Amino acid sequence: MERIEELAVGSRLLGHIDGRTTDLADGLFRNRVDAYSNPARAAAERNTLFRELPLFMGLSSRLAKPGDYVTEDVAGMPVLLTRGTDGAVKAFANICRHRGAPVAQGCGNARAFVCPYHGWTYDLAGRLLGTTDKVGFAGLDLGSHGLVRLPAAEKHGMLFVRPKPVGQGESAEVDVDGNLGAIAPDLAALRLETYPMFSVDVVKPRINWKFAIDTFLEVYHVPHLHRKTIGPYFIGNVGTFDGAGLHGRMCVARTSIDAVRGVPEAERNYRPHVISIYQLFPNTILIFQVDHIEIWRTFPDRDDPSRCEVEMAIYRPAETDKPDSYWEKNRDIAIRTVMEEDFPLGERMQIGFESGVTEEVIYGRNEPSLVHFHSSIRAALGARA
Ligand code: FES
Ligand SMILES: [Fe+2]
Repeated sequence: MERIEELAVGSRLLGHIDGRTTDLADGLFRNRVDAYSNPARAAAERNTLFRELPLFMGLSSRLAKPGDYVTEDVAGMPVLLTRGTDGAVKAFANICRHRGAPVAQGCGNARAFVCPYHGWTYDLAGRLLGTTDKVGFAGLDLGSHGLVRLPAAEKHGMLFVRPKPVGQGESAEVDVDGNLGAIAPDLAALRLETYPMFSVDVVKPRINWKFAIDTFLEVYHVPHLHRKTIGPYFIGNVGTFDGAGLHGRMCVARTSIDAVRGVPEAERNYRPHVISIYQLFPNTILIFQVDHIEIWRTFPDRDDPSRCEVEMAIYRPAETDKPDSYWEKNRDIAIRTVMEEDFPLGERMQIGFESGVTEEVIYGRNEPSLVHFHSSIRAALGARA
């Protein structure tokens, strides 16, 4: 966030605290509970939100050096993301052109990928370098049997992939600024390229993927559900919200914000007192914490709308004098709060929804970020929502 914006958000938050108000959505939003459990709805979300749109894949430091690669199953699409010898990031379907085995596993650094099934070899740019039986595959045109390319990009220290092959005449580059719209300069100002990854944790809670996002989109619940963990440090039910196309940014205040009141407005430093929660549509929550970054990505299960996979990554500043134990403590707080308080309650809510007793959930005007998220889903799905 740029300095001028930091001051504006800080003063909006103080105004809300003093007036016992918060940013409001235009109206209540009613969502059908089967949006969280219906298989047809889940399929529409996978086919549209998780195929047609660029998805956030992590900060640039996930691919720190030339030759670094990561593989991921992105809602059913096996993805291979590489940084070539020229430093450029490219993405491919991680599917061998012989008989479909994944050519790379996990993550690491490589000069080439040797398919584990029969040993066909591909380079970091996805080109098929050779087959292992020259007679059996005589006449096969290597040039047209490279890995299938997916649009990708690296911008403002972030990696993006659209998990649908590059179409005829289409660019292999994701238009990051076009996709992020008004939120792009705000993210660029965070200097995300300066944060190396510290830790990654993956869990598979029995909740719909949207629940895992919802839990970050309001602080109305913080004094209640989290009263024994983070509750004492945050001002509940107070926040600013700014939508940017399908994306959004919510800012919330720590109780320590009172410390700025004695400082002249133009000199105030809100950084230690305000947490920015970026919702990168559809499935990413990037939290700009006081001194580090916490990123949650959630992916729907391929078969079961009631299940998802959630990844939490902690990135710490490159320049720091804090020991690993300090970042470990931050990781622990995130796990205790979200994975041990939000998600278990979400599992009970998912069961309640599936009981069929209630027909809808209501997002209040005081939960504008939630209203925006679900409105964005409806807009992106069009008539299918
Ligand atoms: S499936 Fe990859 S070499 Fe056969
Ligand atoms: Fe929570």
